[in-house]
Amino acid sequence: MIVLGIESSCDETAAALVNDNKEILSSVVLTQSEHKNFGGVVPEIAARSHLEHIDEIIEETFKKANLKPSDIDAVAVAGGPGLIGGVTVGVMAGKALSLALNKPFIAINHLEGHALTARLNSDVQYPYLLLLTSGGHCQILIVNEVGNFKRLGTTIDDAAGEAFDKVAKMLGLGYPGGPIIEKMASLGDENRFVLPRPLYNSPDCNLSFSGLKTAVRKIIESYAEDGKLEHAILRKQDIADICACFQKAATDCLLHKLKKAISIFKKECPNGKHIVVAGGVAANIYLRSKLEELANSNNLIFAAPPIKFCTDNGVMIAWAGVERAQKGLFDELDFKPRPRWPLDETAPKAAGAGGVKA
Ligand code: KG4
Ligand code: ZN
Repeated sequence: MIVLGIESSCDETAAALVNDNKEILSSVVLTQSEHKNFGGVVPEIAARSHLEHIDEIIEETFKKANLKPSDIDAVAVAGGPGLIGGVTVGVMAGKALSLALNKPFIAINHLEGHALTARLNSDVQYPYLLLLTSGGHCQILIVNEVGNFKRLGTTIDDAAGEAFDKVAKMLGLGYPGGPIIEKMASLGDENRFVLPRPLYNSPDCNLSFSGLKTAVRKIIESYAEDGKLEHAILRKQDIADICACFQKAATDCLLHKLKKAISIFKKECPNGKHIVVAGGVAANIYLRSKLEELANSNNLIFAAPPIKFCTDNGVMIAWAGVERAQKGLFDELDFKPRPRWPLDETAPKAAGAGGVKA
């Protein structure tokens, strides 16, 4: 079985072809550069750019795999959550292909795409504990099955990736912030500045990054004579030290709540073996190494997608499509793109219900 995956929910226009032998036949990702000067993604610019490029990205995906559209068995598209203009572009392209080719259409929850990707490259069995951390979301979940998630905790304000992006913007490092902060942090002293660990003492698995970001802002402002962020004069070493301290604090917060989640996971799923990290922030090597230590010390196995499939891509959508198609889970062509789509609303309808049948 070969599934085409299409992703356009944020600032990547992407498509991929993946089969049920876990082979990636091709993958094409276009990261929009138009947002660089804005310190974040501008929704209208993103939607226009998706519209401009989606056809050529899909064409290139087939060309790279040396396949024809009629060779596929289903079309999977990120149907949300995300920026509605971009999601609509991808969904319309996917529906058109599904109709023209008479192949089933599958609407994938973008977060489910991230959540299942590690199963493509490693032998991760259900159930597993998942840290899903991206630019828009930060959650700790038990993944029981396709469409069966139990959320243990979530951020009550910013997502971790959003905090990386905002700190980078304050430091004038550009967008996206994660990769450049990680690079600068490797040159810095992670113990130089004292930063808070928000919600450390709350008994639940919830997270918060807004106070951390504000604390970083105050440090930067202290480098300006008039206390204004934009007048701060920072040496390269100061910037590196701030990045290192921020990265450590954010990682500590994630790990601290994961420890609580591990004890719930072990009680509820005594046969569960894996801790998985997914989403754009999962590309962070510092975080990955700390998570691996945490998993080892709790007799669990750490798994993560390869770095290039942590940030948005078509492979994760195609693979989630394979998993859904294997269960006969298809969608109707009247599916409406969803700007908000909580993971607990992805439960399968009766197998085979809806959509063009395989
Ligand atoms: O999953 P993703 O591509 O898009 C969303 O669904 O949000 O995640 C993008 C986010 C951005 O906030 C970016 O700064 C962050 O992931 N990110 C990182 C790294 N690479 C990307 N954060 C920390 N360290 C990284 N190496
Ligand atoms: Zn994402």
